[in-house]
Amino acid sequence: MLIRKAPQIKSSEITSEADYLDRRSFLAKAGLAAAGLAGASPVIAAVASDPGASGRVLENVSESPLSLDEAPNSWRDVTTYNNFYEFGTGKEDPSRYAGSLVTRPWQVKVSGECDQPGDYNLEDILSPHALEERVYRLRCVEAWSMVIPWVGFPLADLLKRFQPNSDARFVRFRTLYDPGQMPGQRRRILDWPYVEGLTIEEAMNPLAFMAVGVYGRELPNQNGAPMRLVVPWKYGFKSIKTINAIHFTRTRPRTSWEASAPREYGFYANVNPNVDHPRWSQASERIIGSGLFAPRRKTEMFNGYAEQVAHLYQGLDLRRNF
Ligand code: MTE
Repeated sequence: MLIRKAPQIKSSEITSEADYLDRRSFLAKAGLAAAGLAGASPVIAAVASDPGASGRVLENVSESPLSLDEAPNSWRDVTTYNNFYEFGTGKEDPSRYAGSLVTRPWQVKVSGECDQPGDYNLEDILSPHALEERVYRLRCVEAWSMVIPWVGFPLADLLKRFQPNSDARFVRFRTLYDPGQMPGQRRRILDWPYVEGLTIEEAMNPLAFMAVGVYGRELPNQNGAPMRLVVPWKYGFKSIKTINAIHFTRTRPRTSWEASAPREYGFYANVNPNVDHPRWSQASERIIGSGLFAPRRKTEMFNGYAEQVAHLYQGLDLRRNF
């Protein structure tokens, strides 16, 4: 066998990042084929083939044309590498400690500039919505990313039911505040409860999603049960978990991360490889689950969703409005 020294290997012979990712997806598909699930929808195949998955299986979930055509991260990656500071700041803290969260019964308070305010039971919030699967990339502001198969429904479909009026220029979302159930709230890392917000146009964009499940099953607590936002073109911190209040407002909400460090975390928080975080580059991202010496992937403008969302920011200086 001819053994060549490293410098003689042409760069064209080294597996490109695209080939590497293709191969990952091929291997995932081959695994499904071996399990006899080659023709199954990604939802059924993923649920049936992951031995670690737990939680109630959601029924009648359709596929969405808005899904990425990429193999998702494993159930384990998605449910044990989390950010949920209400349960601690370590990545595994949420999966260890979020069992203390009780998500039934659950109420969501809807208020502000809308014609149908009120305290809604979770069942009444969810029942009219058909479920679909959306495979999206989640790009964290900390410069890592994952591909996650969420289950839920378009945020716009939910918000329209509350009939926002013409003064509803923004929507504010709030996480439960209960330090008994969420021990991380005893530490003043953030000004609790966690608050996030979107412009009404962002919230009504077809990509904005309310997730109630992942991998075809009900959301585990650490992923934001019973319902959480998923805004795939923005840094992950905009995708607020465990929502119990929705407020329509005329003025821009003061969001938790912006309030805590305004020079580091903006209101818009659109994924943007050209605007670095003051303490690190945002040009590339570490792919979770691909090993210690994992290839990094170039971060894409709006996380790859420019075609669908760039129009929302026409005329806006994205360097100043980061
Ligand atoms: N929502 C609440 N309430 N608390 C949090 O700490 N972390 C955010 C976001 N939503 C967070 C939150 C961050 S920084 C990220 S990257 C995503 O959740 C992570 O979602 P995941 O753990 O389901 O991957």
